[in-house]
This record gives sequence, structure tokens and C-alpha cells, in this order.
Amino acid sequence: MDRAATGVRGLDDVLHGGFPFPSVVLIAGEPGAGKTTLCMQTLFEGARRGESGLYITAISEPVDQIHRYMAGYRFYDRSLVEEGLIKFLDISSLLLKEEHEGGGAKAALDFAMDFIRKSGARRVVIDSITPFSFTFAEPRGYRRFLHELFIMLKAMETLTLLVAEFSPDETTNPENYMADGVIFLYLQKTEVVDIFKPAIQIRKMKGTEHTKDILRLGFTREGLRIL
Ligand SMILES: Nc1ncnc2c1ncn2[C@@H]1O[C@H](COP(=O)(O)OP(=O)(O)OP(=O)(O)O)[C@@H](O)[C@H]1O
Ligand SMILES: [Mg+2]
Repeated sequence: MDRAATGVRGLDDVLHGGFPFPSVVLIAGEPGAGKTTLCMQTLFEGARRGESGLYITAISEPVDQIHRYMAGYRFYDRSLVEEGLIKFLDISSLLLKEEHEGGGAKAALDFAMDFIRKSGARRVVIDSITPFSFTFAEPRGYRRFLHELFIMLKAMETLTLLVAEFSPDETTNPENYMADGVIFLYLQKTEVVDIFKPAIQIRKMKGTEHTKDILRLGFTREGLRIL
């Protein structure tokens, strides 16, 4: 099986070389747990290896702001962006346009899928999937949409990282079942009062052996790394 190196120190060892390729991997976790950073590291790692990447933002953060924040990390290489090896797409305005139930989500998805195909990207990030759910009044409508989304993504020759804004306690959300892989990012409370430690768990990764232990994570200038 082909692998896509993650760029996160320690994670490739645990995954025996990286994320299985192609696959759709959910990156879920609470605010500030490192979701965007992990995805960016993987995009830049790919670009350094000549694999084109596409980062799609859906409401959470405008593109300029993402560049500003990511420029603080050593893995951020402006020249890879300037060369067009990593592209950025903001679908927030499409998502917010809502004529009917789920209309914004469907319009944004169609536009994004078309852009992915034309860009020829090997690695794709959607950050995040959560705002899509807000365009549906009924959970059933959102589930149907997710089903359609995963069918489309799984048919592509890409590594797709889907960011999800929910806590790792929510283990039975439909996204967790539909994805090929699930990574949970935590800010764990320790025995010492008021001390929180970042951590990561590979909850699921089809096609590969891996530990299911919760592993300590470090936030460094190189990005995330397993300690
Ligand atoms: N240059 C840096 N060096 C070390 N750590 C940093 C650096 N820049 C940011 N951080 C840490 O990364 C955290 C943000 O991580 P990130 O944006 O990846 O989280 P997230 O899970 O995407 O959050 P959100 O749900 O808000 O989008 C900050 O709160 C800070 O703790
Ligand atoms: Mg984020």
C-alpha cells in the first residue's frame, strides 16, 4: 500500500510510513488541539516531496489569517505556496448562501470537488466539515449529505484530511464511521490541577497496524510532534 508521510515527527513511525494513500482521514478535536497545524504539516511535507496540496477553508479561518499563523512554524515554506504547489480555497461565502435546506453545503461541495479535480492535488484538507452541518435543519439531511461527500472523496486518488470540530468523547458521530481513518486530538487534564497536556490517538486507520494508545504531543516551532 502507498503511504503519505505526515510530516509530524513520530507519527509516521506509529503509522508505518504515513497515512495510507488514497484515503479519507478525519482529524477531530477541541479548539486549539492542533487540527489545523497537523493538516498544514502534512500538506507542506507532501509539497516538499513534489506532491501538490490544496487547503480548503470553510468559515473557520480566512486564508490571510492562516498564512499569518502558519508563518510562525519552521515547516511553513512561502516559496512552495508561491510556486503553486500548495493552493488555498475559501468556500465560506458559498456555504453561507442558503436558498433551501442544505443548499449552501451542496453548492460549496460541488464547487470544491470541481476545484479539487482541476487542481490535480494529491493531498487535500477541508477545514472544517462542521459548518456544513449548520446548513441542515434536520440531522437526517446532514447524514445524507455526509454519505454523498464520503462517496465522492473516496473515489478520488487523494489523501483527504477532513477536520471536524468535536471532542474526542463524541466517538459515535457519523463522520467517525464513514472515514477510513480517525485521528483524535486532545487537551487532556492531568492529575495536577490546572495542567493540560496535548495528546493524540489514532482511533482508526484502515489498512494498517497501529497503536490505539493515547500518545503525548508536543507543540514546537517545527509543528506537532509525538513525544
Ligand atoms: N509557533 C508556534 N509554536 C508552538 N506552538 C504554537 C505556535 N503557534 C501556535 N501554537 C499552538 O497551536 C495552537 C493552535 O493550534 P491549531 O490552530 O492547529 O488548533 P486547532 O485545533 O486547529 O484549533 P481551532 O479548533 O480553533 O481551529 C495554539 O493555541 C498554540 O497553543
Ligand atoms: Mg483550526
